[in-house]
Amino acid sequence: MHGTTPRKLDPAGAQALLAEVFEPGADRLAHSIGVGRRAEHVARALGRPELLVSAAYLHDIGYAAAARDTGLHQLDGARYLRTLGAPAALTGLVAHHTAATVEAAERGLDTILRREFPAPSDELLDLLTYCDMTTSARGEAVTVDERFDRIYDRYPPGHLVSRSMRHAEPWLRRTVTGIERRLERPLR
Ligand SMILES: [Fe+2]
Repeated sequence: MHGTTPRKLDPAGAQALLAEVFEPGADRLAHSIGVGRRAEHVARALGRPELLVSAAYLHDIGYAAAARDTGLHQLDGARYLRTLGAPAALTGLVAHHTAATVEAAERGLDTILRREFPAPSDELLDLLTYCDMTTSARGEAVTVDERFDRIYDRYPPGHLVSRSMRHAEPWLRRTVTGIERRLERPLR
């Protein structure tokens, strides 16, 4: 990063980056924008920082061709953002969102993930995970039940992703329930 100006990754900058790395109309782009919008709402409702919103827009950037490397999208995304000069607070959220350590363990990448990107404090991470788990692959607001159903429809049993999600499901559901309580009612 010597001699390179870090890229501006506030929510507007994050959306501009998404438009560069994903094809227009791609599901990943629609999902990323949906999660970002959800986070705008949550951040406003709970008085949380803009960092949460930027992380929400960028959380799945590891699926972009420009970022893809190990196949663990949380790690690939955090590494990609690091090359753009993103601060550790942002890369840490991207690296650990939505029970990343569970899939990382399945892939034998959990030690690397934790070493490169120390886990951020639970609070913002849980809010980010909540936004992800209540937004469909196309970016619509859904319940956590619908989200899991669609994930299991998409990835057959035994697939690494569905296996990881099954392991992480109780943790993810607890996280969503806890945030819903904080928000008093589910955001729909
Ligand atoms: Fe996501």
